This record gives sequence, structure tokens and C-alpha cells, in this order.
Amino acid sequence: MKIKLFSIAFVLAVFYACSPKVIQPEVPKVDDAPIVIEAPLTAELAEGKLLFESNCAKCHDLYSPKDFNAEQWKPIMLSMQKEAKISDEEREKIYAYLTK
Ligand code: HEC
Repeated sequence: MKIKLFSIAFVLAVFYACSPKVIQPEVPKVDDAPIVIEAPLTAELAEGKLLFESNCAKCHDLYSPKDFNAEQWKPIMLSMQKEAKISDEEREKIYAYLTK
């Protein structure tokens, strides 16, 4: 009797351990996708984005604003201003967009 109970428990345990892997298909569920709510850009920031996209992808791929923090973008923008030959005002707008 004990052995019978044990084997039932064992079978159940094996089922329990293995079944989720067997039953659940590895299909990514659309519902699980993280919802990213981006704040709409102000006119100023939208201009910065435009300047960034039109001036900063000539020599290399466009970097993501998230690649660097505000402190890091400062010296980068100063050196890239020379590369991109943009005005101080344009640099400020791009900087504002990158660090929004
Ligand atoms: C004339 C070509 C040119 C243009 C235009 C240009 N870059 Fe660059 N960029 C480079 C070169 C070359 C490097 C790599 C050497 C360096 O770091 O100076 C670089 C590197 C970078 C890096 C990496 C810096 C790091 O520390 O890893 C960033 C970020 C960057 N550029 C952003 C920009 C932005 C923003 C603009 C627009 C304002 C821009 N670039 C326009 C040539 C350019």
C-alpha cells in the first residue's frame, strides 16, 4: 500500500514538474509586452530631435539618448558640435532633447 501511494505521488510529482513545459507553447504573448508611455515632445524638443536626426547620423549610426547621461552628453556634444558644424543654439536644442 505504501509503495502504491508512493508511486502515485511520484507520478504526480513528475507530471507536475514536467507538464508546464510540455503544455505551455513558447509563443510570446502580446499582452506581456511592456507598455512604454512616452511623453509627447514639446515643440522645442521635437526640433532638437529633428536636428539630432539630420545632423548626427552622417558619420556614424545615430546614438540613443539613453546611451549616455546628461553629464556624459555635455563633452560629447561639445566635440560633436565641431564635427557636425552646428551652431551653439542647435547644440543646445539637441542637448535638451538628448537629456529630456
Ligand atoms: C563629421 C562626422 C561626425 C558627425 C557629423 C557627428 N559625429 Fe559623433 N562621432 C564622430 C567620430 C569620428 C566619433 C568617434 C571618435 C570620437 O569620439 O571623437 C564620434 C563619436 C560619437 C559618440 C561616441 C562618444 C563616446 O564617448 O563614445 C557620440 C555619442 C556621438 N559621436 C554623437 C554625435 C552627435 C550627437 C552628433 C550630432 C551633433 C554627432 N555625433 C555628429 C564623427 C561625427
